Amino acid sequence: MSNGILPPGHTLVETQDGSFTLFSEAFQEACHSTTGARAETLLHYVEGCQIVSKLRQHSPLNILEVGFGLGIGFLTTLEVVGTERPWHFISMEIDRNLLEWFRQKFSDHSFLKNLQWKKLGDLEVLEAEALGCKLTILCGDGRKTLPMYVSYVAVKWHAIYQDAFSPKRNPILWTKEWFKFLKEHADHDVILSTYSASTSIRKSLTASGWQVKKGEKFGPKRTSTRATLTGETDPEIILQMERSPALVLSDSNINDFLTK
Ligand SMILES: C[S@@+](CC[C@H](N)C(=O)[O-])C[C@H]1O[C@@H](n2cnc3c(N)ncnc32)[C@H](O)[C@@H]1O
Repeated sequence: MSNGILPPGHTLVETQDGSFTLFSEAFQEACHSTTGARAETLLHYVEGCQIVSKLRQHSPLNILEVGFGLGIGFLTTLEVVGTERPWHFISMEIDRNLLEWFRQKFSDHSFLKNLQWKKLGDLEVLEAEALGCKLTILCGDGRKTLPMYVSYVAVKWHAIYQDAFSPKRNPILWTKEWFKFLKEHADHDVILSTYSASTSIRKSLTASGWQVKKGEKFGPKRTSTRATLTGETDPEIILQMERSPALVLSDSNINDFLTK
């Protein structure tokens, strides 16, 4: 990635594995760990959601990403799995400038050169499709666009990359209501994976019916989180949640959560 034109309100940050991320002025946070944007994406999302083995079980494999950012989630997935088997990557992004920047940046890319702005009912989407692989990015606030999308298109997610900015910066995408909605549109063997290991977030996941396990460590973070709709929550996590005063994050207590 060059230091050329950047999306407004963002600066480019080189991470320790040589890949780049963007720092958002609006959210005052970088889109990835400075230990490595690509390495983190590979570990938490492509491997964390077991994409390679899931691709053999589902056709197409439906991957939902919460927060498109600069597209590293999609690009890393494409790099690992290619287009031999069908998969559909559905993402969401509130910042239209970021999406238009991405579209222009990849106008020569073998797959992404097909990206086009489209209308889907009341939604504005950026979409490309080729060789059984499809990318759909919903433009706007995911809390509104994703419910609209599932009212138009019947889809069950097999993998969820929960990659919003941190709960303190972007709480509306970490509430029990949000996780309940994701659950309602997920396949029974879905894996939801996230870099966050916050006890509040783990409580919000369990309060909405997810079973929570520890994920891999990455960089300075000692652990992360994986959630499924089968199996049981890790007993160590249950104990940790019982002992912690951390709040279940809900649409009704976001302000309390932010001031704690
Ligand atoms: C951590 S970054 C995602 C990084 C991305 N997965 C990647 O690999 O490049 C989070 C993204 O979520 C977007 N976002 C924040 N709030 C949102 C919302 N309510 N709806 C949709 N996107 C949102 C931000 O603009 C930001 O680009």
